[in-house]
Amino acid sequence: MTLYGVGLGPGQSDLVTVRGKRVLERADVVYSPGRLSRSVATDHVPEDRIGDLDFPMTRDEEKLRSAWTEAAAAIAPTAREDDVAFVTLGDPNVYSTFGHLRRTMAAFHDDVDLEVVPGVSAVTAFATALGVEIPAGSGLALREAAGGHSPTGPDRMVLFKVTDAPTTHEGLVDAGYDVVYGRRLFMEQGETLVTDDPADVDERDYYTLAYADRDDPTADLATAAFETTDSPTVTDGGTPTDGGRPMGEATLEQAESEACGDEPPEGNR
Ligand SMILES: C[S@@+](CC[C@H](N)C(=O)[O-])C[C@H]1O[C@@H](n2cnc3c(N)ncnc32)[C@H](O)[C@@H]1O
Repeated sequence: MTLYGVGLGPGQSDLVTVRGKRVLERADVVYSPGRLSRSVATDHVPEDRIGDLDFPMTRDEEKLRSAWTEAAAAIAPTAREDDVAFVTLGDPNVYSTFGHLRRTMAAFHDDVDLEVVPGVSAVTAFATALGVEIPAGSGLALREAAGGHSPTGPDRMVLFKVTDAPTTHEGLVDAGYDVVYGRRLFMEQGETLVTDDPADVDERDYYTLAYADRDDPTADLATAAFETTDSPTVTDGGTPTDGGRPMGEATLEQAESEACGDEPPEGNR
């Protein structure tokens, strides 16, 4: 049978994927590494099928190894007999505890089949929550900003683990970034907050991220013209004009070069 690593999404139970929900519903045991993931899982699974796992809050590698060895030893016998799931918030392969479990299973119980069900990660959910667009053609880096750290470099960054927003903010603004903070985005527990004032999020809360950018990635897009005060007018026939010049093939070519297709061309699959 199979051990499924299931991503639960950012925290609202209706953001679990359809596949994730199906796996949870038919799993014999759903292992949860924490309170928040447990509370999301219980919207899909009866409490008596949830198996809590305890992990010490420590950086001591020896203690961590022994906690993961114990967790894997508890999960493996059940996973040989039945389908079981291990849940994580967000996606199981992005900054997640699931990586520890996967490595430990591979080292000590490599006969257990493993499958991952991706989840909606805060890496992408932040854009909708913060009202940010990452247009095709632009780059985006994921960095950590714990303890007041202010990583710099790329023009657009998502920063996880923002535990000291005022200090992080200072460094980012000095480096020329605009910054927006998001706390408990798409979460059921706690208050969701989106702000550009670091003082609003100065109280430490692990579920805080930031988006920093130092240019407007949408400025050069064809449709950016619609947002300016002297934006092109739309004629009765519905054809937008730019100072009398119909926006025709040039705009289309530009749009095609900006587009990021959902699927690669046939020959590239
Ligand atoms: C260890 S990472 C877990 C990431 C998760 N696996 C994912 O794919 O979203 C935890 C960090 O992600 C960010 N994060 C995760 N979920 C969040 C949410 N719902 N709202 C705001 N930040 C969140 C916070 O910066 C937090 O410190």
